[in-house]
Amino acid sequence: MKTRNFKEELLYAREHKYAVGAFNIFNYLSARAVIRAASALDLPVILQTSVTTVKKFGPNELGTMLRQLAWNAPVNVIIHLDHCTNVEIAKACIDSGWDSIMFDGSRLPLNENIAGCREVVSYAHRRGIMVEGELGKIGGVEDDIVVDAADATGADLDEAVYFARESGIDAFAPAIGTAHGVYKGTPHIDYKLVEELSKAIDTPLVVHGGTGLSDETFQRLISLGAAKINVSTAIKHAYIDSCQEYMAKNPDKLDPIDFDQFMNCSIKDTAMRHMSVFTANKI
Ligand code: 13P
Repeated sequence: MKTRNFKEELLYAREHKYAVGAFNIFNYLSARAVIRAASALDLPVILQTSVTTVKKFGPNELGTMLRQLAWNAPVNVIIHLDHCTNVEIAKACIDSGWDSIMFDGSRLPLNENIAGCREVVSYAHRRGIMVEGELGKIGGVEDDIVVDAADATGADLDEAVYFARESGIDAFAPAIGTAHGVYKGTPHIDYKLVEELSKAIDTPLVVHGGTGLSDETFQRLISLGAAKINVSTAIKHAYIDSCQEYMAKNPDKLDPIDFDQFMNCSIKDTAMRHMSVFTANKI
């Protein structure tokens, strides 16, 4: 089912005081479980793929599988490429059925980040595909992008406004103090930057590093204008932990459908829990 596009869905969410959950999936089972979660709550959802997942399946095979799942879903399912630093891979995914692409030029100097975004935007927009950009350095590990805590850098307000305007992006992920992976302490989130950016630009804001943030943190960020929240590590945990739990509980059972169903429930519950928090104050 397709209703709103990526940007329309985020603008609608912001206007109605909720955020769209964006979950990193890595195979058919995880994609289907996240769609089941969204369908149970009757909410739109973003399925994100890492570049590693794209390379593993190939854009054509992965795109075909995800498009088919999205097509059959009773809710709007948007297929998004997460943290892509390579313009050619971004273009291959655009050509293979993705709805939106994150071009991650955050390691580049500002003008090169803008130029990279513009190149992807120009290719994408001609085909009706949307683009997310990042500024500042989000800490932690996501796919093959590793940023040590000491190197994580928050985005600067003036630069961020300039970047959002000049790059032509449809959604903006500024580094605000959240991090990918499991938090070792309480993150220091720059709420003021989120608030000021929301006032200064129209581009919907994206929060990375959703795993481990408190419900209060999510809701405060949403109240300040966050419209898309990324969750990856929690989905990986749901998959691997439930796999280990099933094997421990059923060492002699040879029933792959039952095994899949157990992992499906774990991922579905995890996605539903996050989506319920993201929409708790929906109007
Ligand atoms: P987590 O792995 O911390 O949930 O972050 C996900 C993310 O931001 C993907 O881009």
